[in-house]
Amino acid sequence: MTTTNLLEGTNEIINPDTYFQDNSQPCSLPDNEIKVKEFVNKHDRAGRRIVLITSGGTTVPIENNTVRFLDNFSAGTRGATSAEYPFYLQPFSRHYTHSTNCFLDYMELKDDDNIEVNPNYSQKMKSVLKKYQKVKQEETLLILNFVTLSDYLFLLRSVTQIMACLKERAMYYLAAAVSDFFIPAQKMVQHKIQSAEGGLTLSMDQVPKFLKPLVNNWVPEGFIVSFKLETDPSLLVYKSRQALTKYGHQIVIGNLLTTRKLEVVFITKDSEFKIKLTEHEVKNEIEIESKIIPELVIRHDEWIKNAEIK
Ligand code: PMT
Repeated sequence: MTTTNLLEGTNEIINPDTYFQDNSQPCSLPDNEIKVKEFVNKHDRAGRRIVLITSGGTTVPIENNTVRFLDNFSAGTRGATSAEYPFYLQPFSRHYTHSTNCFLDYMELKDDDNIEVNPNYSQKMKSVLKKYQKVKQEETLLILNFVTLSDYLFLLRSVTQIMACLKERAMYYLAAAVSDFFIPAQKMVQHKIQSAEGGLTLSMDQVPKFLKPLVNNWVPEGFIVSFKLETDPSLLVYKSRQALTKYGHQIVIGNLLTTRKLEVVFITKDSEFKIKLTEHEVKNEIEIESKIIPELVIRHDEWIKNAEIK
């Protein structure tokens, strides 16, 4: 069998600045930056706090004219759910999407011309709708989309730098599962890789660790929470603490792939504790984010108070 050996990767760790010089910015970036500036200015004037939540996985293309890409695991649930709790909201649209139920299941045909909400769901939907409309009216939620690693990294740099003016009042909650490996644009083949040439060997470069410049340069006064996902329980605490020590930010939340919706471990400079759902809570469909977020709000309060004392 023949194999296509795509490109030679390098062991050298690319500097984050070099990444931004070597890769072109997504065309949606200028528009997104305008939206973020408007959002931040409005809420900054009102003295509000702002949280940046990153959520979902990034993809890395393997061809410049992309037909195939590699994906990182994440359903985006952690971020979406977490975004709802600061507002004390019941679930929004994620509960009405195809991943849970098809939204059409909530509808009924009233007659030939009209549809209505199935009465079995209308009570719950009404309360969700009210809260959703309040958030829309007050413009307290701004959603930006990314697909590729490059979309994500350019957006992360821009948004954090715009939010830097909020100083301690900003929280960064980095729940996205970001690719660890990628093929730099200049090393990627232009056209679709042909399967007629046999098997495929891929060689990829390491993605620079963006937490370093984020913590040290982009938002040094912000309250920064990162996540660590592992599959081996014996590595979780060790790897989470290692990340905290390496980057020097405020909290790492460790979670295991199989139990991530049931328990997490908080690692701070001087503490380590679990947040866990009881059986009773699981039965009552309580979500773990309803416990994570209030804990972070307390810690963010302390962060702001300490900065005021200094
Ligand atoms: O979306 P769900 O299905 O609900 O799943 C949620 C989750 C399991 C994806 C989430 O809870 C989680 O753990 N996210 C982080 C996954 C992870 O381990 O990422 P990482 O080890 O690649 O990165 C650790 C941290 O560094 C992350 O906060 C990431 O934002 C950051 N990072 C990563 C790579 C990179 N190049 N630069 C970074 O700054």
